[in-house]
Amino acid sequence: MTENNLAIIVLAAGQGTRMKSALPKVLHPIAGRPLVGHVLTTASRLGADHIEVVVRHERDRVVEVLSKQYPEAVIVDQDEIPGTGRAVQVAVDALPSDFGGDVLVLSGDVPLLEADTLSALVDAHRSAAASATVLSALLDDPTGYGRVIRDDSGTVARIVEQKDATADEAAVTEINSGVYVFRAASLRTHLTKIDQNNAQGELYLTDVIGLLREAQETVAAEVATDTAATFGVNDRVQLAEAGRVLNDRIVRHWQRAGVTVVDPATTWIDDDAKLAPDVTLFPNTYIAGATVVESGAVIGPDTSLLDCEVGEGAVIRRSDATLAVIGAGATVGPFAYIRPGTTLGAGGKIGTFVETKNSQIGDGSKVPHLSYIGDATIGERVNLGAGAITANYDDIVKHRTEIGDEVHTGSHNVFVAPVRIGDGAKTGAGAVVRKDVPAGALALSVAPQRNIEGWVEKNRAGTGAAEAASRAGKAANSEAAE
Ligand code: UD1
Ligand code: CA
Repeated sequence: MTENNLAIIVLAAGQGTRMKSALPKVLHPIAGRPLVGHVLTTASRLGADHIEVVVRHERDRVVEVLSKQYPEAVIVDQDEIPGTGRAVQVAVDALPSDFGGDVLVLSGDVPLLEADTLSALVDAHRSAAASATVLSALLDDPTGYGRVIRDDSGTVARIVEQKDATADEAAVTEINSGVYVFRAASLRTHLTKIDQNNAQGELYLTDVIGLLREAQETVAAEVATDTAATFGVNDRVQLAEAGRVLNDRIVRHWQRAGVTVVDPATTWIDDDAKLAPDVTLFPNTYIAGATVVESGAVIGPDTSLLDCEVGEGAVIRRSDATLAVIGAGATVGPFAYIRPGTTLGAGGKIGTFVETKNSQIGDGSKVPHLSYIGDATIGERVNLGAGAITANYDDIVKHRTEIGDEVHTGSHNVFVAPVRIGDGAKTGAGAVVRKDVPAGALALSVAPQRNIEGWVEKNRAGTGAAEAASRAGKAANSEAAE
């Protein structure tokens, strides 16, 4: 193997105690992707020969996510010996024994580093012919990080953990980002020499740096220019901070690509979302998952879209949609709840206080007000009156409602599925449609109205209603007398 070979080790075995969570730390998401997923996405761009992820805590849960989303990563199990040093030992042991290139160590909880920064780090390491190169950063508040201790000549001497630092060392503001490049041969040799004599009783990877220096090998540190990118997530405060930094980056990316973001501070866009030029996002909008929004669409305010496709020029206001397809020029909301499996055709409408699920609504068709449409197939240019309800569930199974083209239904209809309404048919107000309606028919299911004259005055004497009725009766009589 050539000296230019690169292996990447991603550390993801730690407990993440400070998260105080049942979910392993590296699986906590920002921008719709677990922390370790961001690290692996970046790692996969570096053209490495090997990518390994070290796991232990909640191993099966972490592996389940990794094997689905990052199948190219090789899983390495850490044993019961704790510490980043141990994690790298087992990962190095899992590399081919003749691997003679460089090893890039990344932390599963340092999610914001970009591929450019890392390839520059590897390049600097190689051109300096260093045995190890640490990515460091200068922070106003270095609390919690390992400190990079330099000797009088300014060369990196060692790294000391916060918990092991003297007051002088703790005052150093250059921190270890937890990202390093090592020459494989040097790493192998010195990893065998670290011990657990420290405040945390762990094998520290950071101790390898001091050992290399003692052995007169070249150790370098590259100070990151973008300090935010070296940000490590240990607790939920840092999780939110990292999420904010990443979101700012994503929002700016789409703004530069031609998207109008009215209020970047309240607009959240996941990493996998795609937005066309001339999309407009109003405040409090969350574009989540693999949502794709075509040009000219207007989303928000107060809207969440998860894994949706939104066509050109569609308008979605104050609504929540998941796994839905909204056609070009369609309008949604305000206050629509669009559940998985909804497709709305071009120019269609899902209006105010409407819930839909697993339903196909054809081109130009409208469900404008106060409706529940579940398990329905609706043709083109249909108008459902206010208060349309598909009764899709008989307590045992779900049934479909099928509505043809050009159907107009009266207000407050119930469609008791399974039921079909033929093309061009109409229904009366208040109809409970239990039987199929043939094409072109008018379906009425409400009994003729019967008025019982004088009922209120007789049965509710002395009430305001009876008095009003009596006044109305007198007025009608005197009009008749004139
Ligand atoms: C580590 C560094 C510290 C650095 C900081 C940067 C050490 C000893 N310290 O501290 O110098 O400033 O990262 O963010 O390396 N992990 C394992 N196996 C373990 C323990 C941890 O794989 O036995 C993984 C964790 O899942 C995590 C990463 O290693 O992804 C770092 O572990 P963590 O415990 O967060 O180390 P820090 O205290 O942050
Ligand atoms: Ca950490």
